[in-house]
Amino acid sequence: MNFQPKLHVLFRHDEIEATVKRLAAEIRKDYHDKYPLLIGVLKGSFMFMADLIRLLDFPLEVEFIRLSSYGRDRQSSGRIKVVQNLSSEVRDREVLVIEDIVDTGLTTSFLLNYLRKKKPASLKLCSLTDKPSRRQVPVSIDYLGFAVPDRFLVGYGLDWNQKFRNLPDIYVLED
Ligand code: IMP
Ligand code: MG
Repeated sequence: MNFQPKLHVLFRHDEIEATVKRLAAEIRKDYHDKYPLLIGVLKGSFMFMADLIRLLDFPLEVEFIRLSSYGRDRQSSGRIKVVQNLSSEVRDREVLVIEDIVDTGLTTSFLLNYLRKKKPASLKLCSLTDKPSRRQVPVSIDYLGFAVPDRFLVGYGLDWNQKFRNLPDIYVLED
């Protein structure tokens, strides 16, 4: 691939770190005595999840689920499948879903409905970023890092065609 996209920094790592700290404090307050099950949505949330849980100094469990929604470009296909499932029971657990971004909301609302059917004791959502202007289905975010403009973002776990996940800052990918 010869196309070299231009990247413009949106959030530097120190700003991300401060936001993750704030989210950890909010989550700690609500879950410190609940032994929650944190479910990270792969692949995008892995870096956020890793930073977040290191700041949570109480008992919890970590799970991952992988969904397919996006094809190779920047649009959600709207057809969502579970491609790697959970290995823990969700029933009667205090479940907190950890997302990288809520864009159209199609993926997250699919996942929340999927998990709700498994009868957790509670089900909440934490997302590092939110693009409210792109929403097609309503999704309420209980713990939100950043509201972001309608631009394509990469870095800190977020990819474009599987690239740029490793960048420590978050960038806007220019057209
Ligand atoms: P949704 O179903 O449209 O809400 O999209 C959800 C998924 O699309 C996210 O979990 C990301 O994996 C991906 N996505 C949406 N917007 C972006 C972006 O700006 N950068 C990278 N991935 C994105
Ligand atoms: Mg995702």
